[in-house]
Amino acid sequence: MNTYQAAPDIEVITTNFPIPGMGFVPVNAFVIKGTEPILVDTGTVVESPDFMTALRSVIDPADLRWLWLTHTDADHIGSLHQLLAENPRLRVITTFLGVGIMSLSAPLPMDRVNFVNPGDSMTVGDRTLTAVKPPVFDNPSTTGFYEKKSGVLFSSDCFGALLQDPPQNAADLSDKDLREGQIMWATVDSPWLHKVDRSAFAKELNGIRKMEPKMVLSSHLPAASGNMTERLLASLADAPSAQPFVGPDQAALEEMLKQMTEVPVA
Ligand SMILES: [Fe+2]
Ligand SMILES: [Fe+2]
Repeated sequence: MNTYQAAPDIEVITTNFPIPGMGFVPVNAFVIKGTEPILVDTGTVVESPDFMTALRSVIDPADLRWLWLTHTDADHIGSLHQLLAENPRLRVITTFLGVGIMSLSAPLPMDRVNFVNPGDSMTVGDRTLTAVKPPVFDNPSTTGFYEKKSGVLFSSDCFGALLQDPPQNAADLSDKDLREGQIMWATVDSPWLHKVDRSAFAKELNGIRKMEPKMVLSSHLPAASGNMTERLLASLADAPSAQPFVGPDQAALEEMLKQMTEVPVA
């Protein structure tokens, strides 16, 4: 677990989650400092203690006022309930679906929830957040947002990449690593992409282009400044035509287990 500053007043809390045989997926949460500090997502369930330690190194969780939950997957809700328990002022910004999905495992207190829908804007302190349904997502509750003061697009899982050695800045990735990493992530995380109408998908991507974000902060990509947006969009535009992802089969699993249990010859 590591932290870095992506922009003035925006901190990233990140870990690299290993995918056996394939590389690493960065898992990011973000702190937007300001008159009413906002936390965007809360890390993975399995690394919650480490996440809380890293979070405390960038802000006192008692100072947080808002928690924007981009969606309810286990890599985004890790410390959600601990934060709610520690800080009675903290409110969760999510959707009707977000609340519904959470109610199946760890219900959210309804009096501490603010609903948003894509297109809605809300002002919290010195920040204005406009909810965005990103072009690619893996969960129906997914809601990213554009933050007006910083010009940053928080894109949730969209624009993520599977990488061999994730840097802190996406600009440090080669064109090849970024493109292949993005396409691999998109085909793994959003396999429905292969079925989309290409012109409809192009319109979705164009919606991001028109925002002209100064920075894209994906949950699963190092921070990417706005001059990379065209590259990010170009990789995604090609993802529907890429080879569909097929996971290892049972024979591969048995081979892996055999290798893990083999006693090395002295
Ligand atoms: Fe997800
Ligand atoms: Fe995710």
